[in-house]
Amino acid sequence: MCGIVGYCGPRDPVDVVVAGLRRLEYRGYDSAGVAVPADGRIREVKKAGRIANLEAALAADPLPSSGAGIGHTRWATHGAPVDLNAHPHVSADGRIALVHNGIVENWASLRTELEADGVAPVSETDTEIAVHLLARAVAGGIDLTTAMRQVAPRLEGAFTLVAVDAHDPGTVVAARRNSPLVVGVGQGEHFVASDVAAFIAHTREAIELGQDQVVTITADTVEVTDLDGAPGEVRPYHVDWDLAAAEKGGHDWFMRKEIHEQPEAIAHTLLGRHDVDGRLVLDELRISEEELRLVDTIVVIACGSSFYAGMVAKYAIEHWARIPCEVELASEFRYRDPIVGPRTLVVAISQSGETADTLMAIRHARAQQARVLSICNTNGSTIARESDAVIHTHAGPEIGVASTKGFLTQLVACYLLGLYLAQLRGTKFDDEIAAVVAELERMPVMVQQVLDDHGVVTELAAELAGARSILFLGRHVGYPIALEGALKLKELAYIHAEGFAAGELKHGPIALIEQDLPVFVVVPPQGRDQLHTKVVSNIQEIRARGARTVVLAEEGDPIAAAHASVLITLPKVSTLLQPLVAVVPLQLFACELATRQGHDVDHPRNLAKSVTVE
Ligand code: AGP
Repeated sequence: MCGIVGYCGPRDPVDVVVAGLRRLEYRGYDSAGVAVPADGRIREVKKAGRIANLEAALAADPLPSSGAGIGHTRWATHGAPVDLNAHPHVSADGRIALVHNGIVENWASLRTELEADGVAPVSETDTEIAVHLLARAVAGGIDLTTAMRQVAPRLEGAFTLVAVDAHDPGTVVAARRNSPLVVGVGQGEHFVASDVAAFIAHTREAIELGQDQVVTITADTVEVTDLDGAPGEVRPYHVDWDLAAAEKGGHDWFMRKEIHEQPEAIAHTLLGRHDVDGRLVLDELRISEEELRLVDTIVVIACGSSFYAGMVAKYAIEHWARIPCEVELASEFRYRDPIVGPRTLVVAISQSGETADTLMAIRHARAQQARVLSICNTNGSTIARESDAVIHTHAGPEIGVASTKGFLTQLVACYLLGLYLAQLRGTKFDDEIAAVVAELERMPVMVQQVLDDHGVVTELAAELAGARSILFLGRHVGYPIALEGALKLKELAYIHAEGFAAGELKHGPIALIEQDLPVFVVVPPQGRDQLHTKVVSNIQEIRARGARTVVLAEEGDPIAAAHASVLITLPKVSTLLQPLVAVVPLQLFACELATRQGHDVDHPRNLAKSVTVE
């Protein structure tokens, strides 16, 4: 997820674009850059790091005035966050500049085509491929708008492209597919941006763009077409958010925004990781297939919510790949003198990629000759750099301290890893793997369904705002979700909350049950072994002792519903994938209850987004 701004009009485009990028910095802050068409060529400045670095570079070496400009603040997906990979990217002839948000899945084949044409991309990014395709098109005599219509259909994946042509200095051209782009309509000036936060300081009149549309702006005109040049539907609207709300997509808190971004985050994490037949393609893994076949033990290392994602991974990896999988708290791992060696695959899960406990643990593992694969959301982070291989979760920046989309995309990455290992080792047939991949592809819709159906959770949060203690129960993959639900409540509402394995209740925790004590119970899908029956009997045990049972169960589960004081229905999904839908109501509940208590859910007390001390 990156921030993009384009401008045409009488103001200094560099000032307008950089100010807009500042308001989009929450969308990505690995690097930033700006480009203007001037004197028949592209002039650009781009720097790794925060936008302040770009501003310092511009102060030292100002760009010339121009009638148009584009800019970008990056959240790296392909290519480390260094100057060379920063956007804008410029064509070899210096004529076209391009910024991009999203992922071009077929960048490798397009790169091969360009190299065969004698074009030598210089960066590690998928974006640069698109700028060379545009330059090759306009060199044939067509304008940038026509070139955009030719190039966009060749790109597979999700993208917002915004470009300028030095031979047409008063124009900006953009295209979008599965990635946000909005037009700002001013008086004698126009904007394109990832979201309205970039331009509502100048105008509140906007135009929403549809899928596969191309928009061409000048200071005085806006032209919207679809890819074959036919006029596109124009959907104008008035923006009534203030700037703060605009940065949060209209939500009150980044955490709530990020909970609602989860369908898109899942879709982006799946992008480019399997082929049309459902075969896994994890080309970012730099551990050879041969080495992975020899792995005899997997040790997942993580902290907090990431540890709970690792617990889910254990069930999936062992079920699909039949490899023994342990899950260890990073802070405990190296102090227990672990037995690891060359045939151990250590999987480090970390949203920030900077957690000191996890970093020290993987250093210890590597010193014992283990191979390390990390699952990270932050490209170029320390843990990613010190791993043998990385699976990036493409959740985009997670601003809220409490992890939501970061956690959900970790689950997706863990499922992809488990399926990849099963595919590699032949422990699952291709059709079985493809069936799970197909279900994963349906998860954005399933999660959206849970998000849309949040009325029960919102009412429950109002009722329980004064609760002093809330318990969470789950079994199998529901157990880590119970732990995660409890953690969300602890870290956001500062309420005592505890998660238990449902089967452990009778071994002590049931003594906690008293009249009206709220207990959330994650009920597995029906039909899977004895899991469902046993959890239902756990619910009966606590109801008999007066508990208020908040039951999360799949739709069409009358048995679970019969024992619910409050029923939260989940979409029907397979047992191992149920965490993807079961955790969402618990996130919404914790966020709603904490905000009702007046807490700042984006910056909970005593917590940091990245714990870089042991
Ligand atoms: C998540 O809600 C917490 N803020 C915390 O437990 C977090 O998951 C943990 O600190 C690990 O962070 P990491 O994923 O960045 O390594």
